[in-house]
Amino acid sequence: MKNILVIYYSQTGQLKNILNSILEPLNPKTYNIDYKEIKPSKPYKFPWSAENFFEVFPNSKSGISCKLEPMSFENTEKYDLIILGLQVWYLEASIPVSSFLKSKYAKILNGKNIITVYGVRNMWINAHQTVKKLIYKQNGNYLGNIVLADRHNNLISVLTIVRWLIHNKKNKGKLLPAAGISKKEIFEAKKFSPLISKALQKNSFNNLQKELLKKGAISVDYHIMKTEFAGSKIFNIWTSIILNKSKTNSKKRKLLLKLFEFYLYFVIFVISPISSIVFKLIRLLFHKKTEKEILRQTSF
Ligand SMILES: Cc1cc2nc3c(=O)[nH]c(=O)nc-3n(C[C@H](O)[C@H](O)[C@H](O)COP(=O)(O)O)c2cc1C
Repeated sequence: MKNILVIYYSQTGQLKNILNSILEPLNPKTYNIDYKEIKPSKPYKFPWSAENFFEVFPNSKSGISCKLEPMSFENTEKYDLIILGLQVWYLEASIPVSSFLKSKYAKILNGKNIITVYGVRNMWINAHQTVKKLIYKQNGNYLGNIVLADRHNNLISVLTIVRWLIHNKKNKGKLLPAAGISKKEIFEAKKFSPLISKALQKNSFNNLQKELLKKGAISVDYHIMKTEFAGSKIFNIWTSIILNKSKTNSKKRKLLLKLFEFYLYFVIFVISPISSIVFKLIRLLFHKKTEKEILRQTSF
């Protein structure tokens, strides 16, 4: 019997569906799977109000933790694998997950084999850099990464995610496709299961990520990655202005967050289409170099 611990947060249930799909083929006679949900003491309400959605920006981007409900783990030695299921908020791990990774509960990762499973819109690489460091800080043995994302065009997925997360409309509309990761992609995540099973049975994870990659565990668009990196730097400036110049819930904080909101939409709909063309050209001209950069940024 192999023991797997799944630690996850999922606000809308999307990430939980992905985990279920990946793990469902594992035979319960051979695999014992324990689930631990990360629960903020004050849950983040879904759907979000527009105000709350932007309010979490500075804390998420700068990695300020929230309080979590106590988590307890029994017989921790028994786990052969820990799967961490997470999502990204403002280019960093969501506040509940980063709070877990920085908490005393993250000691469970010490010396354990770890796979991460992301369910995101399309920008996760910056968060991956942070998560990687936090896992290594806990002495975790980081061995595999699976990322499911929304495959629609960047601008379309901004519109659909806002429609979903703030207006609670996930289904296809007159003009817009359904929001989030497609049902097909979630269903097909089953394909990763035999690879995880093989690694566990052989007790050898050396080739796991290579094999996961062959099955499409990660797919990176160079122009999205570069847009994300540029965005992350500018987000850091906004974060430090908002946190240093205003207090939580103050009028000034609200005003700065409103300015940030306008700025964000302006960058997404005006600047990013232009920069995307430039990055697509760079990708065409310097394919090998950009390929190396993608590999370096997504490695662990
Ligand atoms: C406040 C907030 C910010 C988000 N920022 C990003 C982001 O920067 N990059 C991204 O790919 N997805 C982003 N998303 C989408 C989430 O990563 C995730 O896919 C979605 O919220 C569903 O996750 P769930 O499993 O918790 O329901 C954001 C979601 C929220 C709520």
